[in-house]
Amino acid sequence: MEVDYMYDFENSIDRRKTDSIKWDVKDNELPMWVADMDFKTAPEIVEAIHEKADQKIFGYEEAGKAYFNAVAGWYEKEHDFRPQTDWMMFVTGVVPAISSIVRRVTSIGDNVLVQAPVYNIFYNSIVNNGRHVVSSDLVFDNLAYQIDFKDLDEKLSDPLTTLMILCNPHNPVGKVWSREELTKIAELCNKHHVKLLSDEIHGDITFKPYTPAFSLDKDLVQNLMVCVSPSKTFNVAAIHAATIIVPNENLREQVSRGINSEELAEPNSFAMPVTIAAYEKGHEWVSELKQQILKNKQLVQEFLAKELPEVKLVPSEATYLLWMDTGAISDDSKELAGFIRSKTGLYLSSGDVYGGNGYDFLRMNIACPISTVKDGLNRLKQGIDMKKESSAK
Ligand SMILES: Cc1ncc(COP(=O)(O)O)c(C=O)c1O
Repeated sequence: MEVDYMYDFENSIDRRKTDSIKWDVKDNELPMWVADMDFKTAPEIVEAIHEKADQKIFGYEEAGKAYFNAVAGWYEKEHDFRPQTDWMMFVTGVVPAISSIVRRVTSIGDNVLVQAPVYNIFYNSIVNNGRHVVSSDLVFDNLAYQIDFKDLDEKLSDPLTTLMILCNPHNPVGKVWSREELTKIAELCNKHHVKLLSDEIHGDITFKPYTPAFSLDKDLVQNLMVCVSPSKTFNVAAIHAATIIVPNENLREQVSRGINSEELAEPNSFAMPVTIAAYEKGHEWVSELKQQILKNKQLVQEFLAKELPEVKLVPSEATYLLWMDTGAISDDSKELAGFIRSKTGLYLSSGDVYGGNGYDFLRMNIACPISTVKDGLNRLKQGIDMKKESSAK
């Protein structure tokens, strides 16, 4: 079905030499790695930035009612549950929030549990703060990932494990955890007195209903902290705006003390207007974005099935990040990604950085015009063919 778009997902802006981390690459290179889209953000957001700039004064600010109501309204409309505004705190990013929470609610030497393969920066937030990573690896079978609840139960039962960091939806495997799965996780955390930190930054680009963890039953959210942000959804990462949602008052006070003493709680001049515009006026833009991503994903599926059948795509329910099983070609994804980049210029994320079985995977960002996806796929085929040839020698 052809979609009649109101917004432009075809023309991208040349971001070379613009201080973009993604596009700081050689002239012949095509970056499809970091979770940063090549689509222009919603024009409603750009308008809000212009309006703010026109005020011509950029003094100190604090997040107020309009900001928190916009967050609550977004979750009510998009995800069928309105979190209370008094559960919320403004913070300058999800990663700063995670690191601060690790420092505030756990002690040096504690274990923090993750589910590998998972967003690599979780490891930094844990290890750089003198805590240990314990992983209850996701089980991979028949191109699908599942939680091994017995293993999770055992690892949470270790008295040294005091925090679990959940990724819902899960980057990089693209899984949207169901209400039943979230309930089981929260029950196990409660049983073992482990606090649960759920990173839900990818919750808006989902292709099946996503359950925000703060919408679970009341007795399951007393140990829970959730981080959300418009940054992935609207490609506004450098605006540095996120919200931490903590239903339990005592825990909320602890987290608040952490982000305030670490100076992470004050918005810059554009953080609030951008978030409010995104959450109040961005519904249609996100709906079209999702259509575009589905189209791009279908193109990749068809291309791989026809041209590169040995590369298997993990069917994903969320995000614009594709998780491709390249285990039939190499079990050293770092070497494979480096080879493809050096031979064809295609820059993908190597799966090994996410831990678990990531050594068998490459991650490809398809939030870009369809012409870029085609270019990326042709380079991928060229790179894999060359790799097979060089391995056969
Ligand atoms: C799961 C996850 N959390 C957090 C972030 C980054 O969050 P922020 O830019 O708000 O620090 C990313 C970016 O890719 C991510 O994938």
